[in-house]
Amino acid sequence: MTSSAVPPNRIAVIGGGGNVGAAAAFALIAKGVPAEVLIVDVVDKAAQGQALDISDASFLKPGTCRKASFQEAGQSDVIIVTAGARQQPGEPRSNLIERNYKIIKSIMDSMQPIKPSAKVLMVSNPVDVLTHIAQKASGLPVNQVIGSGTFLDSGRLRNTLSEITGVSPSSVHAYMLGEHGDNQFTGWSAARIGGRPLLDHPKMQGVDLDSINEKIMRKAYDIIDAKGSTYFGIGICAATLAEALLNNTSQVFPVVNFVEKYGCYMSWPAAIGASGVEQAFDVPVNAAEAKKLEVAVNAIKEACAKYD
Ligand code: NAI
Ligand code: 2OP
Repeated sequence: MTSSAVPPNRIAVIGGGGNVGAAAAFALIAKGVPAEVLIVDVVDKAAQGQALDISDASFLKPGTCRKASFQEAGQSDVIIVTAGARQQPGEPRSNLIERNYKIIKSIMDSMQPIKPSAKVLMVSNPVDVLTHIAQKASGLPVNQVIGSGTFLDSGRLRNTLSEITGVSPSSVHAYMLGEHGDNQFTGWSAARIGGRPLLDHPKMQGVDLDSINEKIMRKAYDIIDAKGSTYFGIGICAATLAEALLNNTSQVFPVVNFVEKYGCYMSWPAAIGASGVEQAFDVPVNAAEAKKLEVAVNAIKEACAKYD
């Protein structure tokens, strides 16, 4: 049983009046993360409604949920940002930058002064570029501002590879890399199952790798075509990342982080914990993957330069 005490740690969800923010807040409560979850939104009534509804889900769990202000969000331990425009059917994530960069800048301004130890977890799209913009606007150190990146896409990949190989997705070590967008690519050469290269697995022989890559990249488009937006998958991803930051787990995830080798924020594996990004990893890529990586890095850098 849980006590009625409010937990000392706070996780704010900005944009929590919308689908992704509410799914992330609900996932935090359902996972049993011991935190006070603060719902913040420019539409006050939407924040109030989601906070009241999600608080109904908390009575068997240690977390609590309430509506809060931008100022309170700025003093939180982890700040998840899901605010902003989402894609229309067929629209690429990169199209959202024009609308969302101003929103992200104004959110960072509204939270000032941000608690110096806070970690920002960006989710709004295009997430690689918006993480760069959020870091500059927040004034926080680079390692304390990350994005959900290709964690969701990698989950989609692991589910697909699990169906093919018959191995649990939790034992499939494979990443979608580069950009949470149309330029994402599968890191086939670094993928492993049971300590062996994934591509050596008997069930992977004869599989059309390009069609898997395309299927994973297209999955968000398929969901948006069918129901207008995606939110359950990213909800659990955002809650898992926030939990890792709060509980200092040092788990490795493919998140948006600043990769020195390529000179930009991008979706790449890193170990995250209480100080944000704790360790970076130099994932090996073969010649074909290196070409795709170059395309992703150039697209991110070009967009970042335009909005600096
Ligand atoms: P939504 O329209 O349901 O919610 C957006 C919320 O942001 C609304 O409640 C709106 O009032 C709020 N908002 C707008 N401007 C704001 C501001 N200045 N301050 C505070 N709140 C503000 O949209 P949805 O479906 O929740 O998507 C949100 C974002 O998440 C989109 O950019 C979408 O592309 C992105 N997304 C990212 C994913 C990822 O893997 N990184 C996955 C799914 C969505
Ligand atoms: C997703 O991949 C739309 O970025 C969102 O589900």
